[in-house]
Amino acid sequence: MCGVTGYLGQRAAAPILLDSLKRLEYRGYDSCGLVVLNDGGVALRRSVEPLDRFRTVILSENLPGTVGLAHTRWATHGVADALNAHPHSSCDGTILAVHNGVLENGDELRATLIRQGHRFTSDTDSETIPHLVEQSLREGQTMDAAFAALPRRLVGSYAVLLVHAKTDAIYALRRDSPLVIGVGDNEYFPASDIPSFLPLTSRVVYITQDEPLVIDRTGIHRIRQHSPAGGREPLDRLPVILDQNVTSLSKDSFEHYMLKEILEQASTLERLIEVPPEPLAKARALLQKASSIKLIGAGTSYHACLFGEHAFGVGAGLDVEACVSSEFEFRASLLRPGAVVVALSQSGETADTIHAVRSAQGRGAKVISVTNSEMSTLAQMSDLVIPLRSGPELAVAATKSYTSQLAVLLLLDQELAPWAVTDVRSLWKARDSILNLTSTAARAHIAELAHELAVRPEVFLMGRGPHYVTALEAALKLKEVAGLRAEAFHGGEMKHGPLALIEEGAPVVMFYDRAGMTRTEIAASELIARGALVFTVGEQRLRSSHLHVRADDAGKATPIPQIIPLQLLSYEIAKIRGRDPDHPRNLAKSVTVI
Ligand code: F6R
Repeated sequence: MCGVTGYLGQRAAAPILLDSLKRLEYRGYDSCGLVVLNDGGVALRRSVEPLDRFRTVILSENLPGTVGLAHTRWATHGVADALNAHPHSSCDGTILAVHNGVLENGDELRATLIRQGHRFTSDTDSETIPHLVEQSLREGQTMDAAFAALPRRLVGSYAVLLVHAKTDAIYALRRDSPLVIGVGDNEYFPASDIPSFLPLTSRVVYITQDEPLVIDRTGIHRIRQHSPAGGREPLDRLPVILDQNVTSLSKDSFEHYMLKEILEQASTLERLIEVPPEPLAKARALLQKASSIKLIGAGTSYHACLFGEHAFGVGAGLDVEACVSSEFEFRASLLRPGAVVVALSQSGETADTIHAVRSAQGRGAKVISVTNSEMSTLAQMSDLVIPLRSGPELAVAATKSYTSQLAVLLLLDQELAPWAVTDVRSLWKARDSILNLTSTAARAHIAELAHELAVRPEVFLMGRGPHYVTALEAALKLKEVAGLRAEAFHGGEMKHGPLALIEEGAPVVMFYDRAGMTRTEIAASELIARGALVFTVGEQRLRSSHLHVRADDAGKATPIPQIIPLQLLSYEIAKIRGRDPDHPRNLAKSVTVI
């Protein structure tokens, strides 16, 4: 959460930083700010206004200066106001820093710095960073040494960019929070994430943990931390050339990223089926030897893990269990020798997932990660990485990465039990079904449904087996994107409590496949008898459906097409209710704090 970005080059920094912020907005958007250096002077601007307004104001100022930093915030310490917005500065205002992460010893550092005479103006842990550097300078250290001391002082996670008004350079450091450097022609774009600079360069340098770097007009240098003589050495790591498609970052003609990403799913799925990720075969070797398999993920990625529990490894007789990342610590002691963890994460930066993986590794487990970011922290920790290859997912709500996760689990299943030969076939059916569900006619039908549901106080969702997973994921989308109270139930659990909530006109969405139709029909009649309005998603309409969305069965892959109408529905309801579908309230795409 939070996006940091910087620029050092030949061009005016402010417009470049503002564009980068826009592309990082998915990481949090409570407040934003920037600083531009110019001839020893500092222009610092911070705001709680929406980024677009902030941008207009700053552009009208025509700030001179070719070095600067910017930040978009998702509040962890201190409310979202202009004082807590980054960049934060030292007492004398010459040292400025932007930070993503959480400093666990922030309070302690703040107390020590206050005793040393420093004045704080915000409630954030991040503000300790420029003061720490200032304190080291007061004690006679050089700027390089002061910055390189930070890893010894900071406990917790951080991606830090820092500038000094009198130094034509940007300092960069990371631990357990992402930070990369885009490299152009004599210009540098340090940032939390690649999309920040992708339209400007496709060359990227990855930064390793606790490696203090300084970027100046001559290049990127590593600051020697342990040599008494101090000094710098050129970073000898060559930039990696990305094969990302720059246009995939644009919204094209779509009003929102979310819609674009929903509609991309037929092609993301097709790409995975046609060119399955190479590491699948290697994963088979690891999984076949596993004593047990834990699927770990958070949020939507956890729902993919639940799907895996149903669909993956069954044919091969494997012992598979889904665990929510933040709860893994309570199960970790049950990990048997020889266990393999499959960690699912779109971003590869979710702190809870990284934490769970670290604890599993501490107990000797091998780790396979399934992620959309092959250079992420999670990927770097893993024994094997299976790329999702969904392309950048910039709307906060996960859509195409979810269906890709389900597809990768089925492809992996096919590797483990090739005699079944059903998974790939079912994935093709899923692709065809998605094409139908995203047609203009189908979307118009879903928009109608959206008008019915947008005015309801709550929505219930039901399914059995893997379709319960769809109900859970659909409820999450309705909550976060549409802002509706939505609750998922196991179809068979209805009589054990949930029926008490059903009142006249209560909407219940039911997911099922051909095999489950009869039981769903019975459950639907029981609901209708108590006044419910039944909405159905399946191949055939139930006799009792109030409104039906046809989603053709795709064997084991049926949950892939069945989630599409609910993604679209959440999107449409968000618009009807005046919510921004790309930026749900209080959320951030990559949750890099525990
Ligand atoms: C829901 C959503 C979140 C993420 C969760 C895990 O739409 O986007 O619930 O699924 O934060 O993120 P990753 O997959 O990046 O680990």
